[in-house]
Amino acid sequence: MTIRAVVVGLGHYLPDRVVPNSEFEASLDTSDEWIRSRSGIERRHFAAEGETTSDLATQAAKRALADAGLEANDLDAIVLATSTADLTFPSAATMVQSALGMNRGFAFDVQAVCAGFIYAMANANALIVSGQARRIMVIGAETFSRIMDWNDRSTCVLFGDGAGAVILEAQDGAGDKTDRGILSIDLNSDGQHREILYVDGGVSTQTTGFLRMQGKEVFRHAVEKLAKTATIAMDKAGIASDEVDWVVPHQANIRIIQGTAKKLGLSMDHVVVTVQDHGNTSAASIPLALSVGVERGQIKRGDVVVTEAIGGGLAWGAVVLRW
Ligand code: UT7
Repeated sequence: MTIRAVVVGLGHYLPDRVVPNSEFEASLDTSDEWIRSRSGIERRHFAAEGETTSDLATQAAKRALADAGLEANDLDAIVLATSTADLTFPSAATMVQSALGMNRGFAFDVQAVCAGFIYAMANANALIVSGQARRIMVIGAETFSRIMDWNDRSTCVLFGDGAGAVILEAQDGAGDKTDRGILSIDLNSDGQHREILYVDGGVSTQTTGFLRMQGKEVFRHAVEKLAKTATIAMDKAGIASDEVDWVVPHQANIRIIQGTAKKLGLSMDHVVVTVQDHGNTSAASIPLALSVGVERGQIKRGDVVVTEAIGGGLAWGAVVLRW
């Protein structure tokens, strides 16, 4: 018998304010046409003044609990992926724990930028398979609108705010690829590339800073590294391309998503795409896309799902699971 971490609930939350591409035309030398054709983004959500990452995460978590038919105290842990926590400390995860009325277990944040949800799933999976926790809420939540330089047209039109959450539960499996739950994981980072995607501030510099990106360079790394990490994870799970029902990629750019699918030998009919509606929400993008994919009726119980992401660090990775 093998312990598997199986998704038993999920939910997402997007702030009310929707910002179409056209809204940037008034203040920047840009156009709806440029943003759509270069990135696939049509609109994004921005958090209201005073609305924080833990607020978005709490809403997504409540929806995931309702979806699973569970109470907060049925959870053993919360693992929250974010690079835009409310405060330097405590963790946003402990704020969510308190907001949910959860008074047992433990909660912590994971910071791996756009790959954060993949890293958080890996942490949660390790806690479950090692028997340290039976039920874990894994959240990706971000307010990237807070770290945008509104004068930099090459970045500020690309990002958005949001949150998605999944609940993983320990279930017995046979130990082969027919099991539901997480089947394999591949994690990578290479700190030599930090200058191509970073925030030029932080606690030690006593500033918050703004996101800085060499888009073309990141693009180049993304297609190659995402296809490779997904292939490694699929190989570990013994899953071939024709067994993949859905790729749920990090939603940064439709051209990266298409290029990666092509390298994996998969048609876009097997890819969940939400980038047009959310923009790049960093660690929130995969759980948001999973939740929307289920809502749309794309992802169904028993499907093989491949998730992959890359972001600042560079940090990247993939998780293969059976829904
Ligand atoms: O989530 C973390 C991972 N992040 C990513 O995966 C993002 C990866 N990179 C990308 O998605 C793309 O590189 C971008 C969407 C950021 C840019 O697309 P691109 O096709 O690589 O464009 P570019 O950076 O080569 O810029 C082309 C031109 C430049 O003008 P010149 O130098 O050719 O005259 C830019 O100044 O487009 C210009 N430009 C803009 N024009 C209108 C840059 N931003 C804008 C803009 N509106 N917002």
